[in-house]
Formats: sequence, structure tokens, C-alpha cells
Amino acid sequence: MPLTLSSNLGPKIRYWRRQVIVMRLIVSFALAIVALTASAMAAEKVALSVDVSKAGAKINRNIFGQFAEHLGHGIYDGIWVGPDSSIPNTRGIRNDVVTALKAIKVPNIRWPGGCFADEYHWRNGIGPQRVVTLNPNWGGVIEPNTFGTHEFMDFLDQIGSDAYISINVGSGTPHEAADWLEYMTTAQPTTLAKERAANGHPDPYRVANLGIGNESWDCGGNMTPDYYLSQMKIYSRFVRNFSPAQQDKQQMLKIAVGPGGDGPRWTEWTETIMKAYQQHTWSWDINGLSMHNYTVVRWPPAFASVGFGETEYSQILKSTLDMERLISTHSAIMDKYDPEKKVALIVDEWGAWYAPLPGSNPGFLVQQNSLRDAILAALNLNIFARHADRVRGANIAQMINVLQAMIMTDRENMVLTPTYYVYKMYVPFQDATFVPVTFDSGTYTHGDISLPRVDAIAAKDTRGKLWLEITNLDPNEAVEIEANLAGITAKSAAGETLTAPKVDSVNTFEAPNTVRPKPISGKVEGGKLTLKLEPKSLTVISVEQ
Ligand code: AHR
Repeated sequence: MPLTLSSNLGPKIRYWRRQVIVMRLIVSFALAIVALTASAMAAEKVALSVDVSKAGAKINRNIFGQFAEHLGHGIYDGIWVGPDSSIPNTRGIRNDVVTALKAIKVPNIRWPGGCFADEYHWRNGIGPQRVVTLNPNWGGVIEPNTFGTHEFMDFLDQIGSDAYISINVGSGTPHEAADWLEYMTTAQPTTLAKERAANGHPDPYRVANLGIGNESWDCGGNMTPDYYLSQMKIYSRFVRNFSPAQQDKQQMLKIAVGPGGDGPRWTEWTETIMKAYQQHTWSWDINGLSMHNYTVVRWPPAFASVGFGETEYSQILKSTLDMERLISTHSAIMDKYDPEKKVALIVDEWGAWYAPLPGSNPGFLVQQNSLRDAILAALNLNIFARHADRVRGANIAQMINVLQAMIMTDRENMVLTPTYYVYKMYVPFQDATFVPVTFDSGTYTHGDISLPRVDAIAAKDTRGKLWLEITNLDPNEAVEIEANLAGITAKSAAGETLTAPKVDSVNTFEAPNTVRPKPISGKVEGGKLTLKLEPKSLTVISVEQ
């Protein structure tokens, strides 16, 4: 019976099935058209104006500095594989990492820490016999000291970067630090200089920046501001750079430990150091005050670095924008005691700090790096650029395999993160001159969080070319920029944009190109530039005249 029924109804059923398929296709096609039109129409218009004749401070290239601590795989495996490794290397340093870092023109690298710096004894890391120690701060693992002063300097030479050495104030002595600087910098035939030559480097090294301690208010020795101040004066006085090339010009900058937040504890710290600076005598000096500020929302870090949605995206971006308040607060105190802005504010640890990746050693601070982090990086770099007169250095934490890294490695594999591409796109802003931009940022709202929809900076590079960076924070709506460009005759505008399918899109060893910049161009007519920005994107363009 069923067979007869089926055979009688068969052609009709087939006819109706075909009809349903055709209807479904028509409906999907119509929905796609509606969606496309809606998204085209949904682009919010933002008017922006730039007047090139109103140039401001220089954006010091050192705000694009990096931080490499002996922590997890930040140094070992990330940079150093040793000369006998099958991973291609030059004198033990990974070639792939060197090539990648050269492309982002790293201005300086802060080393050897972090908390590690206040337990580092430089003599363990020189000469043919290295002393094997422990790394109690970061997982209690073995520290082989195979990457020491000479390897760090060789690495800097290979990528073309400057040294930012953090000396041990917490558990070292002024004598130990003074000897280290003499070992690195003197050209005179002292016993330490001869030892340096015997270890392969007769010429003095260049030490551009000297950090006097690290977080001396916490892991660096839990000091009070007054106690730190008296220590810092001693180190500033006796830890000298003897390099003949760094006496009159290119003098080493001495950077004191500064605040780690913006409550009364931190404003008191900045007050103490800066008040003393105002009255300092010939015997000590500083050129910078450091500041640390991680985007973490709550402690211990609990936000996931991958596998999150719009809620966590907006919460993290809201939190990262606190950087503006912190810089303004501490800059105002610095202005009080140093109106000429001789002392730079150096944000030498910043970035997103998330929960460790499941299965990783929690002491290694391993996290993924997503499109959210790229947008977070752009927002912070823009804040630094807007404060270019005072913020003349910053070091994102950390360069490889740790926290908000540029690069991740796993044995012979290497992948570039979304944050790496931000640094690459921002290269033209290194040492460019800040140009004010005015725009109505609009608002992007998610739940009870409201954020500016758009952020932007502009600058003139060393050859006079105008560059714009525009971030569209809104993960759902495109933005159409209408920029009024005064002071130049614009002909065309083109550059790169960085976005991805999802706010938590990441690059992996298997799929390394999910978040990668692609070309973009704007339309220039009658001095006006129009440019459409995709949702959750950042864009850097230059204007040809
Ligand atoms: O970047 C990781 C750690 O964070 C650094 O060692 C320390 O200075 C800070 O607390």
C-alpha cells in the first residue's frame, strides 16, 4: 500500500520540493540584498577635520618600544634558540623573529625585566661558563643565563634597536649596577673593559636608556616613595655611562620608577619623585618617570583572550581607555614641578593582561591575541600620540609569547599577531609631527557600556606627508568618514585597514592570516576625503598631494 501511494504521489512531491527550493533561493537572495543595502545605509557619517598648518609635538618613536623579560618563552624559544639549534638562527638568535621585528622598526627593548630585573645579577650571564639559577617570579623554572648582556646586545644589533636596561635596585647594590654599566660602556682599558673584550666585544656598547628599578613599590622591594627616592638618588649618582659616544650627544636617559595607577597611593608617588626632582642638585638627575598600566579589569586576570563576545569586547575597550585619565593625572603633577617637560613620562609596561590559556603554565603568562587587542593597541598608541609632549616612551608588555605579544613561536613555527600588524601599520608615525584632528566621535553602545564610536589621530611624517589613523570601535556598524583637509592640496589617499570576521578572531600557526591588513583607498574631491571604514577596524592612510 505505501508503495502504491508513494509511486502515485511521487511526481507531485518532486514538483513541490522543486517549488520550495526555488522559493527559498528567492527569499535568501532578497534577504541578502536587504542586508547589503541596510549595511550600506547603516554607515554612520563622521565629519573630521585636519589642519596641517597646526602641527604640534613630535611623536617620539620610542612610544613604539617593546619589553622582553626573562619570563616563560619570552626570551628562551622566543628569541634565543642557541647556535646549535635546527631552527635557523644567527649566533643563537632566531632569524624569523629578527626579520619580523626589523619590519616594525622597534626603537628600543626593555630588558631583562620586569620583576625579573630586581633579581638579575649580570655576571651570571657573561663569559663561557654561565651560572644556572632559578626564576622564582615566573614559575620557579631554571634560568640558564645563556642569554645575557652580549646576546641581548647582539639581538639589538640584528634588529637595529636601542637598549633599555633595567638595573637591579631590589636585591642588587649600586656597586653591582655601576660595574655593569662600566663593563658595557667604557672605552678605557679597565679590567672590566678587558673582560668585555675577552668575551667578544672590544668596543663599548650603547645603552640609550637606564631604568632605575622596576615596580619598586611592589615586586621590586615594596618600598615607600621616600625610601625609593633615596635609593634612586644613589643609583642615579653612581651608575654612569662612560661611552665616549654618549657624553655630549645621545646621553643615556635615566628613568625612575613611577606610578602604577591613579589612586592616592600613586599620586603621592609621582608627587614625591617630581617634587624632589624640582629641587635636585648636580649630583643626581632623571630624564624620565615610568608608569605601568595594564588593561585587566579585575585582579587576578580573568577575561578570556579568545572565545569571547561583544560584551567582553566592549568591557575591555572601556577599561583600556582609562589610560587617558592616568596619563592626564600624572602629567598634571609633573607639569606642576617640571613645567618645561624635561622629564618624560615613559609608559614602560602596558597592554592587555588576560587569564592564562588553559593548559599553559600560569607563571608563563601565555594568552592569545585577537582583533580586540589590535583595536586596544591602536587606542593606546593614539592616547600616547595625543600626549606626545610628555609621553616620550612606552613599552608594550611583552614582545614575544608573553601577554599582549607581537609574535608567538612554537619550536620552528612563528605567527604574527594582530597587535604586530598594528605596530607595522603605525611605522609612519614614528618621529612624525602630531597634527590635531577634530571630529565628533559619536557613541557605540552595548548594554550599559558606551564608548566613542570613532577614534583618530593625524601626523606629518619626516618628509612632510600627512598620515591619518582612524579606528572604528563599533563591531556592528560601518562608518563613513568625510574629512576636511586644510593646509594641503590633497589628490589621493590610500593605505591599509585591519579587521576580521569576529571581535575574537586570532591568527594561529595553522591559520596565520585571519587578521591581516588589506589595502584601502579613499576618494578625494575638492579637498575632501571620503573613506568607508568597516565595523571593528583600524585604518592607516596617507594623503598624496
Ligand atoms: O609584565 C609582567 C610583569 O608585570 C612584570 O614583570 C612586572 O613589572 C609587572 O607587574
